[in-house]
Amino acid sequence: MKLLFSPASPFVRKVLVLAHETGLGERIDREVVRASPIDPDPRLTRRNPLGKIPCLVLDNGQALYDSRVICEYLDRLHGGRRFVPGDGQARWAALTREALADGMMEAAVGVRYEETLRPEEARWEVWTTNQKLKIRDGLDWLEDEAADFSALPDIGHVAVAAALGYLDFRFDADGWREGRPKLEAWFEAFSERPSMRATKPV
Ligand code: BEZ
Repeated sequence: MKLLFSPASPFVRKVLVLAHETGLGERIDREVVRASPIDPDPRLTRRNPLGKIPCLVLDNGQALYDSRVICEYLDRLHGGRRFVPGDGQARWAALTREALADGMMEAAVGVRYEETLRPEEARWEVWTTNQKLKIRDGLDWLEDEAADFSALPDIGHVAVAAALGYLDFRFDADGWREGRPKLEAWFEAFSERPSMRATKPV
C-alpha cells in the first residue's frame, strides 16, 4: 500500500504516528504529492476527487481517505492493542477526542492557507479570528481533560498530539502552552515516543 502525503500536514502525521505505533510503518510506501487547495496534484485528484491528503492507495488500487478512515483501516491490520476501541464508552470518547483534534487541525490549516495563499487584499480577519477562537477553546477543553489522559493512548490522543505538533510547527508564536500546564506536560511526554520523533515536520 502507498500513502500519498505531504510531510507538513497534521492529518498525515496522525496517520504516520498510528502506523509507527502499530508496527505498520515499514509496510507503507510513500509518495509526496502537492496538496495545495488551489492547485491540487493530479496524482492525488485521480485517487481522491477532493484533492486532499492523506490518501492511502491499497494494493488492489482502492483509495482510502480521509485520515479517520485510514486510521481505522490500519488499526485493523495489526495484532496489537487497538487504538480505535471497538465499542463501549471508550470508543465514543476516543472518536470524539479525535473529532475535536481534527477540527482544531482544520481550523489551523485553514488559517495557514488564509495567511499564505489568499491574496492579501482578499483576506478576512473576522474569519481568521474565529478559526483561532475554535483552536483556543479546543485547547482549553483539552487542558481540562489532560490530567485524565490514559497512559495507553488511543486514536484521540494520537490526533491531539498531531494537532499540538502542528501548532508548534506553524503557530509557535501563538504560544498554545500558556496557561495550559497539564496539556503541555502530557505533550512533552508524548513527544518523546519514537513515533512522534520519527514524524516531526521540519
Ligand atoms: C502546511 O504546510 O502547513 C500544510 C501542508 C499540507 C497540508 C496541510 C498543511
